Amino acid sequence: MNKLRYGVVGCGHLGRFHAEKIAAIENATLTAAFDIIPEKTTAAALQTGCRDCRAIGELLDNVDAVSIVVPTESHFAEAKRALEAGKHVLVEKPIATTEAEGRELTELAARMGLKLQVGHIERFNPAFAGLGLLPGPPRFIEGHRLTQFSPRGLAVAVILELMIHDLDLLLSVVKSPVQDVHASAVAVVSDKPDIANARIEFANGTVANLTASRISVKKMRKLRLFSKDNYLSVDFLKMTGEHFVLAPLDDTKSYDGYFCALQHEPTGRKIMFRQLAYPTYDMLTAEISSFVDAVILDKPVRVSGTAATAALALAKRIETIAMDNLNRIMS
Ligand SMILES: NC(=O)c1ccc[n+]([C@@H]2O[C@H](COP(=O)([O-])OP(=O)(O)OC[C@H]3O[C@@H](n4cnc5c(N)ncnc54)[C@H](O)[C@@H]3O)[C@@H](O)[C@H]2O)c1
Repeated sequence: MNKLRYGVVGCGHLGRFHAEKIAAIENATLTAAFDIIPEKTTAAALQTGCRDCRAIGELLDNVDAVSIVVPTESHFAEAKRALEAGKHVLVEKPIATTEAEGRELTELAARMGLKLQVGHIERFNPAFAGLGLLPGPPRFIEGHRLTQFSPRGLAVAVILELMIHDLDLLLSVVKSPVQDVHASAVAVVSDKPDIANARIEFANGTVANLTASRISVKKMRKLRLFSKDNYLSVDFLKMTGEHFVLAPLDDTKSYDGYFCALQHEPTGRKIMFRQLAYPTYDMLTAEISSFVDAVILDKPVRVSGTAATAALALAKRIETIAMDNLNRIMS
């Protein structure tokens, strides 16, 4: 297969970006677009020069792979339809609305010998590399993902809309089963949780405290990680970070790019510090290119159905606990 024939299902806010990026990728051709609102399909087709499909079947007849960029409630049905038609699928996050649906899609893709990638775009954030600087498992992680209010995305709780990004990052860093979850949430402007906090305890002792809000005045996407002798802060919005390491004064190990912020003779320790700044690039192009390469070169995808289903299962567990607590307060 040389150039992948690629289609976009759902030409709304994010779908139009998918179409634009696919059209610019060298080893793919955007052959078709479809949205249940014909005017949206036409707009995407005119913008990119692809086929303006009147039905999903017409799109599936003209592609090898699809981006599914429809509302979350329809991810499962549309991804399943595309996989059953023998097409490789990049479905936006969250993979589906239930763990069972996530598993079914993952198993279907495996059975059909097709690639299934999920749009957890933070894995393609240049700052993601920063998480690898922590030697050994983090003991405590503090996460904040805050955005300003937008009417889009309100059909699902903020946990599925935003916190799921950090849950996926968390599970990619902490390789241990989740042991316990505490959570609370408040529906402030919509009828679903708009702000949520979760404390996640892992079997290896790692604890994570995550907050997600879609009603914030300021935007923030930050993880702070603590382990023995280490503090690492990664800013996924600014693509920067900071790493502090406590080392013995006589440690001659080279800390390339670090400088000594403090020497403390009485304790025989020094603090090494490094400011992190990552080169910016278009993350959606990186995500789609990685999917296209996985299909063409038959390589594993970077964000699998299994990983995305694990993030979804944890998100649903948090949502259930948060809703129970919320209902208890209201009654
Ligand atoms: N990865 C990220 O960071 C990120 C960011 C934003 C949105 N998203 C996800 O992308 C998805 C789409 O979000 P959006 O903001 O573009 O929403 P949107 O409402 O702007 O667009 C969705 C589009 O899908 C169309 N549609 C609905 N059902 C369809 C169907 N069965 N077949 C074809 N078209 C259909 C709608 O008409 C609409 O044009 C959501 O699931 C959301 O969670 C991910």
